Amino acid sequence: MLAETVKYAAARLRGQGDPHGHLAQQVAIWARHRRHSTAWEPHLARCRSLALAAARACPEDARRTALVLGSGLLLDVPLDELSALFETVVLADMAFVPEVRAKAARLGNVKTLVTDLTGQLDRLPGTLGEPLPDVLGELATGRAGLDFAYSANLLSQLPLFALDALPGLEEGRCAELAAAIVRQHLDGLLALPCPACLVTDVTERGLRQGVVDYEADLLFGVAPGLRGETWAWNMAPDGEAVRGLDVERVVLGVQNVRDVAA
Ligand SMILES: C[S@@+](CC[C@H](N)C(=O)[O-])C[C@H]1O[C@@H](n2cnc3c(N)ncnc32)[C@H](O)[C@@H]1O
Repeated sequence: MLAETVKYAAARLRGQGDPHGHLAQQVAIWARHRRHSTAWEPHLARCRSLALAAARACPEDARRTALVLGSGLLLDVPLDELSALFETVVLADMAFVPEVRAKAARLGNVKTLVTDLTGQLDRLPGTLGEPLPDVLGELATGRAGLDFAYSANLLSQLPLFALDALPGLEEGRCAELAAAIVRQHLDGLLALPCPACLVTDVTERGLRQGVVDYEADLLFGVAPGLRGETWAWNMAPDGEAVRGLDVERVVLGVQNVRDVAA
């Protein structure tokens, strides 16, 4: 807990704001990763290797800008390799811890972009019921030479922060908004003018001694409609979340969403 407080304070002292709690979440992920790095590594390695294969599949004469959406702590991002493959790498997230900013600066061709990938967080509840903006389209338009995008374990998280901004919203409207945000991101990826790799958790399972105790959809009823690889991420081994319960997530990895739309 002390280490988390120090980590959070260090980021705030260096100017990183936290208007919607993203920095706090990143610090919580950092702490959880420290506790479970061994259990998480097969999942993280698989994410990095899928993203790298997707990046390497980009034609050699079309490797100007790579955009990483939800780059966070870079646990699932092969940043050194992307930096070597592309002229520029843009990391897009709502928050960056100092270590990530320092790594970006060291690599020289990596930029950090603080941005809300729903385009909603500062506008709710006034925009409830309105069509959601084409955030990824706008990012692509303002960025000549976008040749690759990687959505890095972001999709299931996007609605959660918007719902947090709307305490007291009726359940049905929460579900509607959450599903619209999931669709907004998937549609945005599909419409990008470049290959787009997607890794996202889709289902959470609680297991008691190997037997499924509960299963929850993490995409708010939206079926991604994409064929890809799936694997299990041992997210909260026994006792981390609830005593006696192993929590795992089923992860979907798609090398290029444009090739495999069902
Ligand atoms: C589960 S983490 C992804 C893991 C991350 N790729 C890593 O390796 O640490 C989700 C990331 O999405 C970011 N995020 C969530 N909602 C966002 C939003 N509306 N706009 C931009 N980033 C967002 C969070 O700050 C966090 O870094």
